[in-house]
Amino acid sequence: MKTKAKGRARARFEKVHMRLRVNGEDVEVAFAPHKTLLEVLREDLGLTGTKHGCELGECGTCAVLVDGKPILSCLALPLDLEGKEISTVEGMADGPRLHPLQEAFADLGAAQCGYCTPGFLLTAKALLDAKKKPTRDEIKDALAGNLCRCTGYVKIFEAVELAAKRMREAAPSKAKGASNGR
Ligand code: FES
Ligand code: FES
Repeated sequence: MKTKAKGRARARFEKVHMRLRVNGEDVEVAFAPHKTLLEVLREDLGLTGTKHGCELGECGTCAVLVDGKPILSCLALPLDLEGKEISTVEGMADGPRLHPLQEAFADLGAAQCGYCTPGFLLTAKALLDAKKKPTRDEIKDALAGNLCRCTGYVKIFEAVELAAKRMREAAPSKAKGASNGR
């Protein structure tokens, strides 16, 4: 009996080693195989921008992108994500330059306590990467799985619209810059 119990205890603490691709970099990480992506990001990789909410798939605060699509990291196992591109809020800025969504959230006061903000930012990023000019209803639909207890949502929707507008306005000048550089 004792040996069996010991074996079970050892199995619980055995770690798996694997390579994950996070924010454009390959990282080696060792973790207990039952851990969720949320736990591995926060506890083993120190990426605490991804927030811990309900852990039941209901609040969206733990959302990250996998291959550009939002997923709930509290329900995902890193073991299933080998070779996938995982993006967290830490990877949104381009060096010192914030992502237009981050700027718009700050400019319009769309983050109050900020706890829900990383999940909103990443989910909105997936939307704007797929659609340059989403309607208000499309924004509401895309963000329907993200809960916020502070803002009443209107500022968040406005911030996504503002970021989309700024990104559209910046796009022609970027394209021009690229063609000038040829
Ligand atoms: S913590 Fe993942 S959905 Fe709430
Ligand atoms: S800003 Fe506080 S929960 Fe959304």
